[in-house]
Amino acid sequence: MAFPNAFLDEITARTDMIALVSLYTQPARKGTRWFARCPFHSEKTPSFSITPESGLFYCFGCQAGGGPIQFVMRAENLEFTDAVKLLAERLGLEVPEDGETGLRVRRERLIDINRMAARWFYETLGGAEGKPCADYMQSRGIRPDTARRFGLGYAPPRWEGIIAALSKQGVSTDELFAAGLVSRNRRGGVSDAFYDRLMFPIFDLRGLVAGFSGRALGDATPKYKNSAESPVYKKRDILYGAHIARKTARPYWILVEGNIDAFMLHQAGFDNAVATCGTALTDTQARLIARHTGELVLAYDSDEAGLKATQKAVVLCEAAGTRARVLNLRGAKDPDDFIQAHGAAGFEKLLAESQNHIEYRLSLLESQNQLGGDAGKLDYLRGATALLAALPNRGERELYAMRVAAKLGIDSKAVSRDVETASRKRVRAADKAYETKLVRPSARDTVTAAQSAAEMALALLLRFPELETSLTADDFETEAHKRLFENRSAPLSGDAAPLYAELMARYETLPNTAVALRDCERRMKSQSVPEDGEDSLMAKYRGYKETKTKEGGWL
Ligand code: GTP
Ligand code: MN
Repeated sequence: MAFPNAFLDEITARTDMIALVSLYTQPARKGTRWFARCPFHSEKTPSFSITPESGLFYCFGCQAGGGPIQFVMRAENLEFTDAVKLLAERLGLEVPEDGETGLRVRRERLIDINRMAARWFYETLGGAEGKPCADYMQSRGIRPDTARRFGLGYAPPRWEGIIAALSKQGVSTDELFAAGLVSRNRRGGVSDAFYDRLMFPIFDLRGLVAGFSGRALGDATPKYKNSAESPVYKKRDILYGAHIARKTARPYWILVEGNIDAFMLHQAGFDNAVATCGTALTDTQARLIARHTGELVLAYDSDEAGLKATQKAVVLCEAAGTRARVLNLRGAKDPDDFIQAHGAAGFEKLLAESQNHIEYRLSLLESQNQLGGDAGKLDYLRGATALLAALPNRGERELYAMRVAAKLGIDSKAVSRDVETASRKRVRAADKAYETKLVRPSARDTVTAAQSAAEMALALLLRFPELETSLTADDFETEAHKRLFENRSAPLSGDAAPLYAELMARYETLPNTAVALRDCERRMKSQSVPEDGEDSLMAKYRGYKETKTKEGGWL
């Protein structure tokens, strides 16, 4: 059975590769990649690499590689079709019947419908019917300019508002259901899903409307009502405000509980605020954050539930590779409350004072151990030493070693020495793991100059599809290279997947330049070029540093 590429892409994009691999082995983070002991061959040092962003794995030891589908094929010993079905089931995706399905079309249609709905809510807010909502917004300090920027709107107290408006624009009732804009009422008819609510469109990372969160204007319950889950709105994946935060100039993001908190922070000039939509932070969201920023400030509500959620979020963030700091809201219920009382300047001050992750973890450690007794002191010291050894900066290690020593009333030199020893051990272990990874598999030693030029050309074309090439499949010497070249628009869908994963793992950084590609093409086409392998090619282009353009593209 042939699956449409859109569907296979969907599976690859949605599968959490680290979570999947973790069912079979224990990956650990190393830079942008993760490494684990290979589940497909036995080894002592990890040479199995995973790049969560692209969903690829590659084993430098046994050359197994590919995306989630290939992983499941090997791990579960399944045929391609069955591996696809298994993954689809885990993700809750419907397997297309056959041939062309509309999965991508359906997503686009839902986005379109959401956009129409957002426009209608927005227009309703601006009309005569919108007065109560505008009054409510004013009472909460929501300014019209911010409201416009975030596309806020009003779902009026009518049972057939959105239905009537969107029907006129050609949207069917089924489609309205699929978008979660209507629901079935008690009499078996169809009613608007949002009634008398201030509507916050929820944007995906591209800034397209994925769903809505509606706040009751008064005491109606529920206080917030969110769109039902749909192919475009998965509340566990989305962070409110992330489409703006991804462009922030600040070096960190702020995570809050409520979308209104995020909104208020943006209004006060904190364009790096994001919110979960009524769920605890999920692993997917933590990884989304880690892809965009190295540091997260947690500003959850100051109640008991918020504290618990904070501790869990700290752990998730650090596992995803983002350092966490925790904000103390000093008596305010949530960031919105705080800003109302102390303004943007006050919040800026809180940020400056906020505990960094290491202080936070030291204070957690302290609360877990009885520092009154020797056993507690020793446990605390052991935990603290391990914690500090992981800090990359020597000055930082010294500083906290002194604090730990002072807390225990012991000599800080001794603490510092232990920390340094543990730190060196960590570095040595990491170096060793890294070296094993760089050893080229012996099978590759006989690669010709033309072949290594072909591989670099493939890597360039796969990573930067916009590059134009004069190459045809006939220019490639090996069958595998030909196959991958031909399948380059869907490299994970066939048996070229392992080679694809290997190339992406080997060429982790590449100069995105047509000049490099021209050079590869020349080397492939002329037999007379002297022995000049991948390493010298890379050396030659190392000068072309990757530079980010204003549009976020790469030169
Ligand atoms: P305001 O009361 O308007 O200031 O909102 P808040 O953000 O302070 O509310 P709260 O801390 O109670 O809730 C935080 C988040 O949880 C909200 O943004 C919603 O996403 C979610 N939430 C709160 N109440 C409900 C509810 O009744 N239903 C659902 N589905 N989500 C809710
Ligand atoms: Mn609030």
